[in-house]
Amino acid sequence: MEEKISQIQKDYLEKIQKAKTLKELDEIFLELFGKNGAVDQLSKQFSTLSQDQLKIIGPTFNQVKQQLEEGINEKRTNIREESYKRLSEENLTLQPSRLKARKGHLHPVTQFEQEIVKLFKNLGFVEADAPHIDTDYNNFEVLNIPENHPARDLWDTFYISSKFQVPSSKLLLRTHTSNSQIRILKDNTPPIRMMNLGRCFRFENVDARHEHTFEQFEIVYVDKGVSMAHLQYLSEYFFKGTLGQDIKARLRPKYYPFVEPGVGVDASCVFCKGKGCKVCGQTGFLELAGAGMIHPDVLKAGGIDPNIYSGIAWGVGPGRMVMLREGIEDIRLFNSGDLSFLEKY
Ligand code: PHE
Repeated sequence: MEEKISQIQKDYLEKIQKAKTLKELDEIFLELFGKNGAVDQLSKQFSTLSQDQLKIIGPTFNQVKQQLEEGINEKRTNIREESYKRLSEENLTLQPSRLKARKGHLHPVTQFEQEIVKLFKNLGFVEADAPHIDTDYNNFEVLNIPENHPARDLWDTFYISSKFQVPSSKLLLRTHTSNSQIRILKDNTPPIRMMNLGRCFRFENVDARHEHTFEQFEIVYVDKGVSMAHLQYLSEYFFKGTLGQDIKARLRPKYYPFVEPGVGVDASCVFCKGKGCKVCGQTGFLELAGAGMIHPDVLKAGGIDPNIYSGIAWGVGPGRMVMLREGIEDIRLFNSGDLSFLEKY
């Protein structure tokens, strides 16, 4: 037994001497004094000793235990002091960061939108607000698109779960900025020149030309004597201001339930200037906007007498315009958060 004790004493004093880090010391401490450690193991064997043997070994054992414990403590202090000394001798100079602060900029679609808002501000249009989450009534019903009407198929819609509905109306994510029309008509008296801009949402099969989240821009113009001639003028004003002075507008009959007559608004092709090329499918024109004379029912619902006033609603997709202008082929890039794409603009 005595031999065992002096063996432990020798081995561990040596280990303690050699230890270089606090972590090593912690491990040694555990080996010695932890549960089932060397000390524990030894004391378990004491039951086999006689009283006389115990009287001799006990004090030796305690002495060695104390010596080892003190050895560890002392070594701990040494290691700490040394590392403090090293730190204080070390010359630490902090360098100012070499990383250049990253400068952001507006999204290409936002840049374009600011441009067109300015264009129409110049004609006296002011911005109106409309929510992204709106009632079925504002987005569809009041626009002559009742429930179950086939025209609903023109807009693939995200309806909001009935769990979150307020009792009086069904809610959805607006499918177009035309949800602003009824608000604009109700809240204002003619002459009205307003525009609404922002996100719209559709339950699309997403591909290079279709996104579930995209932007629209829409104007509402109501006054006495507003006619298709104004619509032609405003369309051309928009195309000349955004695509170039040589661009012409062409109106084609097109069905939208909330306008009558309704038109698809084409711009002469920016690539071939109307001669016919691959991009425009040899037609010389690109369909870019939707518009029409505001339907009398919609004017009436907005509290405006269609026998006195007439109006134009006119909408365009800013994303589509930017794609055309910049030669961007995949609409999904806009919302991708891909900096290598965004930084080009
Ligand atoms: N809201 C229509 C759409 O999203 C576009 C449009 C706007 C048509 C205004 C007519 C008048 O397809």
